[in-house]
Amino acid sequence: MTSVVTQLEQWRLQAISAAQAAGIPSEEVDILLREKLGWGPLQRLMGREPVARSRDWEREGNSDPWQEVQALWQRRLEERIPLQYLLGHVEWAGLHLQVTPAVLIPRPETELLVEQASAWLQANPVPQGSCVADLGTGSGAIAIALAHRHPNLQLLAVDSSPEALTVAASNVAAHGLEARVQLLQGSWFTPLQPWRGQLRGLVSNPPYIPSGEIAHLMPEVSWHEPRQALDGGPDGLDALRLLIRIAPEYLAEEAFWAVEVMQGQAPWVVEQLQALGCYRQIQVHLDLAGIERVITARFMPSL
Ligand SMILES: C[S@@+](CC[C@H](N)C(=O)[O-])C[C@H]1O[C@@H](n2cnc3c(N)ncnc32)[C@H](O)[C@@H]1O
Repeated sequence: MTSVVTQLEQWRLQAISAAQAAGIPSEEVDILLREKLGWGPLQRLMGREPVARSRDWEREGNSDPWQEVQALWQRRLEERIPLQYLLGHVEWAGLHLQVTPAVLIPRPETELLVEQASAWLQANPVPQGSCVADLGTGSGAIAIALAHRHPNLQLLAVDSSPEALTVAASNVAAHGLEARVQLLQGSWFTPLQPWRGQLRGLVSNPPYIPSGEIAHLMPEVSWHEPRQALDGGPDGLDALRLLIRIAPEYLAEEAFWAVEVMQGQAPWVVEQLQALGCYRQIQVHLDLAGIERVITARFMPSL
């Protein structure tokens, strides 16, 4: 028993120093241990709890979670695969979501987009069954979060990637939201023809990174996250241009428009929205790092 504990403790310390040397957050070591071995062994090796074996460990039956931990950590270090892909899930906005390399890993800053859309919906109640579109839904994160918080909404979650929509479908089912989150495959507004002029809201975290910058991002992102979730074209603004110019054909009077952008893009987006003349109450919201991250507006063509 003692040798197992010592072995675990030594491995943990070595893994933490390897993480620090590689620029990987060292908390990931404990997350991996907790996920694969359960709290019992981890707390025992930290000297906090005299637990013999965790239930998770026993439940695994014949598989050897300790070998699995070591193999996964090796892949994390050598191949720079994000931990969320290795574990197959992420905790985001209070939701447990499946993620695979077919989808972008939902980011903490995208929670701001959900919060702003939610705040708008609370301040401006919409009728039961109102449709809100999530364009570029990926794992379904934003659509699921909004459906979860607003039981009166129908979400139309669009993505061009069939593989992403398979992951989104599994997340929608896991949250029991099949009746209120409709998944549609196609490019941006194309699958939304039947809802022209009827959307009460539009949310999107589109690909917004300039093509030439992708190779310079962290390897976790540039090697492993789907290119089509990142690539916003030569200046990063391809999808944003479309979301600004085409949305008026699909939004109902007084609908909300809420979109996430990359650092530095907000002034251009605000200028474009103002120039069209049909968007009012244009606001820029800062994320926790103080970056202009989310832009919201109200569609009011008749003013
Ligand atoms: C930045 S990711 C956002 C994923 C998810 N909404 C989130 O916030 O985690 C952008 C998404 O847009 C999708 N996408 C890229 N091009 C698209 C297109 N032409 N039409 C629809 N979706 C597209 C990608 O497949 C990807 O899932």
